[in-house]
Amino acid sequence: MFGFQSLLNSVLVAVSVASLADASRLGRRDGPNHTGFIHTSTLKTYGQGQNPPSSLTGATISETCKSFAQNALNVPAEQVWWQGATKEGAAVRTGFLRQQWQGVTFSNAVANVAMKGDKVVAFGNSFVDLAAADIAPSVPTVSNQTAIATAEKTLGATRTEAPLGLEYYVKEDGAVALAHIVQVRNREEGSFFEAFVDAHNGELLTAVDFRAAATFRVIPIERQDPEQGGFELLVDPEDPAASPFGWQSDGVETTTDTSGNNVFAFLDTTVGDTTVESSPGVFDFAADLAAEPGSSLDAARVNVFYTVNTIHDITYRYGFTSFNFQLSNEDGSQGVAGDPVLASVQSSQGLNNAQFLTPPDGTAGQMTMFLWDLTNPGRDGSLSNDIIAHEYMHGVTNRMTGGGTGRCLQSLEAGGMGEGWSDVLSMWVAQTSATVADFTLGTFVTGGQNIRSRPYSTDPNVNEFTFSSVLQFSQVHGTHSFPSPPEIGEIWANILFNVYAQMVEAKGFSATAKTDPTGTEGNVVFMQLMLDALSLQPCQPTFITARDAWIQADENRFDGANRCLLFTAFASRGMGPNASENFVDDFTVPADC
Ligand SMILES: *[C@@H]1O[C@H](CO)[C@@H](O)[C@H](O)[C@H]1NC(C)=O
Ligand SMILES: *[C@@H]1O[C@H](CO)[C@@H](O)[C@H](O)[C@H]1NC(C)=O
Ligand SMILES: *[C@@H]1O[C@H](CO)[C@@H](O)[C@H](O)[C@H]1NC(C)=O
Ligand SMILES: [Zn+2]
Repeated sequence: MFGFQSLLNSVLVAVSVASLADASRLGRRDGPNHTGFIHTSTLKTYGQGQNPPSSLTGATISETCKSFAQNALNVPAEQVWWQGATKEGAAVRTGFLRQQWQGVTFSNAVANVAMKGDKVVAFGNSFVDLAAADIAPSVPTVSNQTAIATAEKTLGATRTEAPLGLEYYVKEDGAVALAHIVQVRNREEGSFFEAFVDAHNGELLTAVDFRAAATFRVIPIERQDPEQGGFELLVDPEDPAASPFGWQSDGVETTTDTSGNNVFAFLDTTVGDTTVESSPGVFDFAADLAAEPGSSLDAARVNVFYTVNTIHDITYRYGFTSFNFQLSNEDGSQGVAGDPVLASVQSSQGLNNAQFLTPPDGTAGQMTMFLWDLTNPGRDGSLSNDIIAHEYMHGVTNRMTGGGTGRCLQSLEAGGMGEGWSDVLSMWVAQTSATVADFTLGTFVTGGQNIRSRPYSTDPNVNEFTFSSVLQFSQVHGTHSFPSPPEIGEIWANILFNVYAQMVEAKGFSATAKTDPTGTEGNVVFMQLMLDALSLQPCQPTFITARDAWIQADENRFDGANRCLLFTAFASRGMGPNASENFVDDFTVPADC
């Protein structure tokens, strides 16, 4: 179930990765939070297009755009600065310009010229009439050091590595100030600003808040599916410590749809076919569970966007900060950027399943959510948070084991364990109290059944699997038939479920574990060790080497404080200290425990 091998042939892989660059340009709004910062801009459109003067035949796009703007605005050439253009080859290219005065560019007096072939089809601009304006001198009288101090103190944050800037800034009253531009960040609070400090009087003029927060109607992450309490309107569910720019921004561009730094959620194979906000900063779309799922596409895309982002934020908090899935790693993540998760919603390429493909770090992860037809009406895996969490965890385990190559969970045993970790993450996010109940998965899409052969349980009468059960099974995961036969992954998941239950019993439960990894409670410690162990274990881990990685992770992080607790839990399912690669159960615990 939720296979990973079978999708190596997926059409989406080619389609989506190639179109990512284009998709990332769709639905942009004109910047992050520019409150008090935008002044009037205008847009002229020209239908079929307007020819530039014939004297410009054969001119470069920069020459054409600059000349067009000069004529249209009646400004001298030295006031028009060329910023750059979109990539060559597209049907329409856009050139971007800024106003400048005495060699200093403006931050908020800008223009854009869209060209289709050699014709201008649109012209946007917010240039100001400098002949009439009150313009500050172009040489600062307040030092950049003073500006840094002001920005840091006023915004309660520290300057980042980004170089300082000096630009003109048009104030609301039309006067033009000269501004030192300082980027500051407070990692603890998750704030991240670009501050504009007046270079003549030292005052903070404005600050661009890089974080884009929003409101989403979704199934809250602790609910496995809509049948556990339904949808809710969640305000700002982003975790700023994990997604400092919010979910709809990479720190440079901000979107108005279900695409962002961590995930693009779109219909089927078209990466650009996302859901656009119902109103600015709000995704409020109802789902009709009494109808076929196709009629609730927007709710589905929004829920996938929310759930993937939330799992990103949780796993990020617990250490998935290297080789992770992000468009930009400006938050300090290690590894190659440019690889958010591309999440296909209501994929037409299958039924009754879900998939995740993990290419190496730097290439987008591919999540594919299918519809299910086991009920009438059918159901949508995109509304089943447990399935989405399961799929994302495939990406986490494949990237964290072996350092981002995506090649280290390929053996039968390691692949099976991959399924296990994924089920365990679904279980972990669904917990709301110290009471650890038996856990079933995929109940919504199967119309009330369990996608696995048995519930996960501490009770051997409910789930009898032990380490030696591995010898009975040779499958990573079941066929597409339902119910699926038992799998290696179920054994590993049930062992970890028992570790989880014993840890929570011994150390308690933190209700804030999803955003606070610093607690000492059992669910926090469990998650911490599970993720730590992933990068300690070897390529193609086994049950034994993976368990050893847990023991070492505990030594590394907690000086071995939980060693006996861990061994007792592993031993309860046959993985005591003397268990070895031959799959013979050992129910003993170390002599000192
Ligand atoms: C601040 O300004 C001084 C003098 O112009 C310059 O030498 C220095 O490099 C600037 N500092 C930064 C951090 O840009
Ligand atoms: C960002 O926008 C919010 C609400 O629109 C506002 O309260 C906040 O002050 C803004 N932040 C900055 C730095 O302008
Ligand atoms: C486990 O192994 C240790 C040595 O590594 C041995 O002393 C001990 O007797 C073994 N326990 C069992 C129950 O076989
Ligand atoms: Zn799976």
